[in-house]
Amino acid sequence: MSTNPPPISDAPVLRLLNVESAYGPIKAIRGVSLQVRRGEIAAVLGSNGAGKTTILKTISGIIDPRKGSIEFKGIDITARDPAVIVQLGLSHVPEGREVFPLLSVRDNLLMGAYTRRDRDGVARDMEAVFGYFPILRERSEQDAGLLSGGQQQMLAISRALMANPDLMLLDEPSLGLSPKLTKEIFEIVVRINRERGTTILLVEQNANMALNAADYGHVLENGRIVMEDTCARLREKDDIKEFYLGLKEDGVRGERRWKKKKTWR
Ligand SMILES: Nc1ncnc2c1ncn2[C@@H]1O[C@H](COP(=O)(O)OP(=O)(O)OP(=O)(O)O)[C@@H](O)[C@H]1O
Ligand SMILES: [Mg+2]
Repeated sequence: MSTNPPPISDAPVLRLLNVESAYGPIKAIRGVSLQVRRGEIAAVLGSNGAGKTTILKTISGIIDPRKGSIEFKGIDITARDPAVIVQLGLSHVPEGREVFPLLSVRDNLLMGAYTRRDRDGVARDMEAVFGYFPILRERSEQDAGLLSGGQQQMLAISRALMANPDLMLLDEPSLGLSPKLTKEIFEIVVRINRERGTTILLVEQNANMALNAADYGHVLENGRIVMEDTCARLREKDDIKEFYLGLKEDGVRGERRWKKKKTWR
């Protein structure tokens, strides 16, 4: 990446304090506290059912938490209306993309900008997303339902960008995509952060991609954050290597051997 990263300020743009959310009797997140600093890419890593999606839905107001509080840019957004939260500058790219299949690619993008009144800014951002994902310009008049999974993921990210957010929540951008496409999408996510200064909070099962792209990581197990550190340091931790990166270090006569863990997808 040739561009310099944006300055990461110490002031948190997002702050969760002891957040608990549940589905009826099922507690999905149990006292999650985390901060995302302005300008960084933060990641929440966790396996299936750990509570990653629930964290993002609770931040963006889709689920009301049972306990705890959420602050965005110093404003209390706990259990606020999702539309208000978007207007404050927080966009959510949901798990499984959820584009509008019967609307054209262009109309999907315009849906992302529906609260904006600055037409010039909207046109500029449309050009910007076509710059990141040229295939969307080529397909702009086609129905979004005709796009491939990877292209729909590109569209979902682009639709979120059309709100010109300060913070973008990204739910498993790698889901169902080939390793090659996943890598391409992550590269663009990093460019969006570097070039536009958009703060990003992404959740992933694909720890490898997330730890390479993000600055700071939180490890979520059974609804609780069990570890957090810079991604550079997390990548070096033995239990992260073993359980999340599928690597095991075997010291055989000073040689380093790396084993693929069976459960690694
Ligand atoms: N609508 C729902 N109703 C009941 N339980 C739910 C619902 N959605 C999620 N859960 C439960 O809440 C817990 C956390 O789910 P969540 O979807 O947040 O996990 P996740 O980390 O995003 O998993 P995945 O990697 O599979 O997307 C799981 O035990 C899940 O079964
Ligand atoms: Mg999920």
